[in-house]
Amino acid sequence: MSKIDIEKYFKPNLQDARKRNKTDVHELQFELQEKHQNIGYLKTYQIHTYGCQGNEADSEIMAGILEKMGFTKAETEDESDVIILNTCAIRENAENRIWGELGRLKAYKRRNPNLILGLAGCMAQEEYVIERVLKTYQHVDLVFGTHNIYKLPEYIETSMFSKERVIEVYSQEGDIVENLPKVRNHTYKAWVNIMFGCDEFCTYCIVPYTRGKERSRHKDEIFKEVIELKEQGYKEITLLGQNVNAYGKDFKDMDYTFGDLLSDLDQIGIERIRFTTSHPHDLDLKTMHAMRDGKHIMPFFHLPVQSGSNRVLKKMNRHYTKESYLDKLNELKENVPGISVTTDIIVGFPGETEEDFLETMDLVEKADFEGAYTFVFSKREGTPAASFEDLTPEDEKKDRLYRLNEVINAGYLRGNQRFLNQTVSVLVDGVSKHDENILAGYTAHNKLVNFKGDKHLIGSIVSVKITEAKTWFLLGEAV
Ligand code: SAH
Ligand code: SF4
Ligand code: F3S
Repeated sequence: MSKIDIEKYFKPNLQDARKRNKTDVHELQFELQEKHQNIGYLKTYQIHTYGCQGNEADSEIMAGILEKMGFTKAETEDESDVIILNTCAIRENAENRIWGELGRLKAYKRRNPNLILGLAGCMAQEEYVIERVLKTYQHVDLVFGTHNIYKLPEYIETSMFSKERVIEVYSQEGDIVENLPKVRNHTYKAWVNIMFGCDEFCTYCIVPYTRGKERSRHKDEIFKEVIELKEQGYKEITLLGQNVNAYGKDFKDMDYTFGDLLSDLDQIGIERIRFTTSHPHDLDLKTMHAMRDGKHIMPFFHLPVQSGSNRVLKKMNRHYTKESYLDKLNELKENVPGISVTTDIIVGFPGETEEDFLETMDLVEKADFEGAYTFVFSKREGTPAASFEDLTPEDEKKDRLYRLNEVINAGYLRGNQRFLNQTVSVLVDGVSKHDENILAGYTAHNKLVNFKGDKHLIGSIVSVKITEAKTWFLLGEAV
């Protein structure tokens, strides 16, 4: 492919992606053009989703758009006419998985030259990914990013009829697109986007570059969606954003923040309301009070702390200290007694010493977390931390992760044990992986419970008496 050909594509640029110009957010309305309505007639698709719930929600939109175009979901890769990988860029191993997948899918492309292979999501927003796809992954037909999912019909059309490669990724602050069709993955629990993007710029993190600036969806649109879900019989919604606690801070004509939204949504009467993710710095009293007073807001909070060392927290650009985090946590526990709190922690951040790490261990003990996602720092090209001096050997980082996980796992078990002999309500998710007669579901505190019961209970809320507490799940009997 000549240089000129490569130049014609819209490619991402991390420098542009980090700019915050304070331009107004545009609200667009999706509408499927007539000429796109039958393009997928008798054709099928698959979407493979990686990464966070934000991507899961985006994949439901891609599926919604494709089905509006007439496509149906394929049972196998072999019979698919379109395969889209909705990718994650958060850590190197997440990306390596995708490169492996792209390699594997080459065989399908050889068997069916008409197959459209697409790459979407956060990886598509990275410059070096596009360069690599252009140079060595010639069998990828379509690349689009997180800002232009709504243009999928055009891309599919071009790809199908002109057989050209389509590579279009915008590095912009981002719009809000409404009226998007969705094919949801569940019939009783649903994702609801309340905001997009992130302005925190934690120094290790790629998300602000791949998702654009923080922008909140209008509350009326959120209400419309939640009321509809309630009418359709949904039992649980999870409000989504990279930093839901910053919801509404970008509204110019309205004083309406996350706590207000929670209190108002609680009135709709959908059974369970959850949200993710929160930044400790933006968590306020209004939110805690909404949780305290609400009837449907679940007593569970995922509050990523990342580190217990003030020196490291500062280098991460997290805007809080170990002490202020613990203060906020205690305030939360006072307002919502019995609340279950989980977190995210990174070990081996550049320059993290053994002493820093011990501060993290101390915080974990004091915070009494009931679970955590723990990670070894992964260098993300283009982020500030990628150029921080990092002298800690990989073995030592792994050892820290191991020691940390020991205490985290003890927290999981303690969190489960406190429900022994209690009767809890479980929203039944499905049958256990190991036994068809065992149901699996989650309690209000987000604890996994297995109990004997019939499949017809899937999607309903059942009272279960807890008989045994393991580290990763509870066992019980329906009452
Ligand atoms: N917006 C969310 C988290 C998004 S990413 C929040 O701030 O809570 C999920 C988790 O991945 C982060 O909380 C962090 O612990 C981890 N993470 C992000 N970037 C990372 C990196 N470069 N290396 C290792 N872990 C990382
Ligand atoms: Fe990444 Fe920090 Fe934004 Fe979370 S808050 S998405 S960790 S930059
Ligand atoms: Fe991954 Fe993008 Fe989510 S990087 S964690 S899919 S916002």
